[in-house]
Amino acid sequence: MAEDWRALNRANWDERVPVHLGPGGYDLAAHRAGAGRMGAIEEAELGTVAGLRILHPQCHVGHDSVALAQRGAAEVVGVDFSPAAMAAATVLAAECGVAATTRFVESDLYAAPAALPGEAGGFDLVFTTWGTISWLPDIDAWARVVAHFLRPGGALYFADGHPAAYVFDGPGAPDDAEGRPGWFAPYFTRAPQLFDNPDDYADPAARLASSRTVEWLHPLCDILGALRAAGLRLDWLHEHPRIAWRLFPALMQDTDGLWTWPGRPWLPLALSLRAVREG
Ligand SMILES: C[S@@+](CC[C@H](N)C(=O)[O-])C[C@H]1O[C@@H](n2cnc3c(N)ncnc32)[C@H](O)[C@@H]1O
Repeated sequence: MAEDWRALNRANWDERVPVHLGPGGYDLAAHRAGAGRMGAIEEAELGTVAGLRILHPQCHVGHDSVALAQRGAAEVVGVDFSPAAMAAATVLAAECGVAATTRFVESDLYAAPAALPGEAGGFDLVFTTWGTISWLPDIDAWARVVAHFLRPGGALYFADGHPAAYVFDGPGAPDDAEGRPGWFAPYFTRAPQLFDNPDDYADPAARLASSRTVEWLHPLCDILGALRAAGLRLDWLHEHPRIAWRLFPALMQDTDGLWTWPGRPWLPLALSLRAVREG
């Protein structure tokens, strides 16, 4: 089954597209009103993007691509292997008035350099957030793709679940009285993780027929080592006791939409970093 990872995962993501654009999916009212917002962590950390050429790998339905374009990026190029997502993103960008400064390219992450010929070193910023590298088996190759597209001095902005939090499991694992979830997998597990879960993180009413997926855990040393080996210098790294989705059932939603521990902040739930392409 792990050998079929790409086909299984793509079918799962294709099926999520209409769910996320439906009534129980993403709230895109602000995007359609011309000022889409991203999550509270990246809103606080990203800084100005006006005038930048931005690559947005694994952009899904393009909601963050649109938000980046709406805040003045010169161009945002979204890449995702889901044809349904790329079609939806193109429509969303047009509805939100940023068709002229956005482009969506259907491609596997690892094939993106071939899918975007002539774009080596062409971007000021690579922006990739929330649920990306866990879908990729080879973190070193991921970092090389990021470096391929950045101009010297250009930066990666990355935010995602913290690898330490992925040691624990949300769905099915009973949280204890203090909100601590049960164990799931050892931190240094590098074997593919096979799931069969019909649930969707955005719409609790959705049931996915393409429920089988293959994902990977990447320890922090692998992420930082991959970026370093690809020629990126770490500018900063932040750990957060909050995350963009309900990773564990016991998490509570803050007023800004992020999910956090009900009591003490036992572990980081998310990390974010900025790394600069040397050269
Ligand atoms: C959780 S979403 C990305 C997060 C996005 N920021 C969001 O908030 O929705 C994961 C995306 O990765 C894409 N994806 C998964 N594996 C991929 C691969 N090998 N190549 C390209 N895209 C991939 C999926 O199609 C999906 O749109």
